[in-house]
Amino acid sequence: MQVVSIINHKGGVGKTTLTANLGAGLAARGKRVLLLDLDSQASLTVSFFTPPEWAAELLPARTIKHWFDGLDTGGALQSPAGLISTPRRVREKLARSTGRLDLIAAHRDLSDVDTTLAAQLMHDEAGFTLLHNRLRVALQHEAFSGYDIALIDCAPNFGLVARNAVAASDLLLIPTKPDYLSTNGIDSLGLKIAEFVEEFNVRCAEDERISRPPAAVVFTMVQLHNDEPIEAQRSVMSRVAAGGVMPLSTTIRDSKAVYGPAPEYGVPVILGGTGRAQTRELREFVSEVSSHLDGAAGMAA
Ligand SMILES: Nc1ncnc2c1ncn2[C@@H]1O[C@H](COP(=O)(O)OP(=O)(O)O)[C@@H](O)[C@H]1O
Ligand SMILES: [Mg+2]
Repeated sequence: MQVVSIINHKGGVGKTTLTANLGAGLAARGKRVLLLDLDSQASLTVSFFTPPEWAAELLPARTIKHWFDGLDTGGALQSPAGLISTPRRVREKLARSTGRLDLIAAHRDLSDVDTTLAAQLMHDEAGFTLLHNRLRVALQHEAFSGYDIALIDCAPNFGLVARNAVAASDLLLIPTKPDYLSTNGIDSLGLKIAEFVEEFNVRCAEDERISRPPAAVVFTMVQLHNDEPIEAQRSVMSRVAAGGVMPLSTTIRDSKAVYGPAPEYGVPVILGGTGRAQTRELREFVSEVSSHLDGAAGMAA
C-alpha cells in the first residue's frame, strides 16, 4: 500500500477538498482507497458521513483516536480493521467500479492525541522513534493489506500526529493558494519536514531509517481569466516553480459554487456530476498524482 499525506500547516487551503476528490477519483479508477482523517475538525469525515452519522456511528468507537488511545492502554484494540467505515453515498456512486473508498474517521478530541504524545516524548526522549513511527507501523498491519493506497488528510499544524503522517508517507501533497503569504509558508513547512526526517534518522536504529518523501505543491483556488491564472497569481506560481518544491502542472480553479455544496451531499465533485471544467481538472490531477505514485513504486521495486 502506498501512503500519501495531504499536508499544510495553513488551514483553508483546500487539503480536505483535494483529499476527498483524489480518493474518490482513484476509487473510480479501480483503486482500493483508505482515507484517514487526522484533523479534529473532521471536515473529511463529514464530507462523506452526515454529522448525525458521525456522532452516532463513528464517534463512540470508530475513529483514529481510538486506535491511538488503544496503544496507550496496552493494545486493548488488537486490529485497526474495526475502525474502518464505508460511506454509503459514495459506495452507491462507485457501484460499477472495482475500486472502493473507505475511511477512518476523525474524533473531535484528536488534538488530545498530539498533547498526549508530546507529553510522552517529554518523559521519554528515547521513545522518539516509537512515538513518531506509530502510524507507519499501524499501516503495515494486515488489516490494510487489501488497500492500494492510503490518503491522510492532516490537521493544519505540524505536531506529532502530522509527523507520524510524514514518517508513514511515500508522497506529500501540499495544497497552496497562489498568494504571497500562503506560498511563503511552503518554505518553512519544507524546512520543518527536512529537520524532522533528519532527527528521526539520527535517533532511530539503522534499519528503521526513513527517506524524506518527495513533495509536490498543488495550487488550489486559482483565479482564471480567459482560462489563464490572473497575473498576480501567475507570478507567485512561477516563483514557487523556481524554488525548492516542485508544483504539479495541474492546478485547481477557484470555484466556490461547485466546491461549496459537495460535502453536504456526501459525494465529491469528481463523482458528483456538477462542474464540467472542474471535473476535467480533477481527473487530470488524479492522473498526475497516479503517475507520480507509479514512478515511486517503480523506484522501490
Ligand atoms: N478550488 C476551490 N475553489 C473554491 N473553494 C474551495 C476550493 N477548494 C476548497 N474550497 C472551499 O474552501 C474551504 C476550505 O477548504 P478545505 O478543503 O476544507 O481546506 P483545508 O482542509 O485546507 O482547511 C471550504 O469551504 C471549501 O469548500
Ligand atoms: Mg481540512
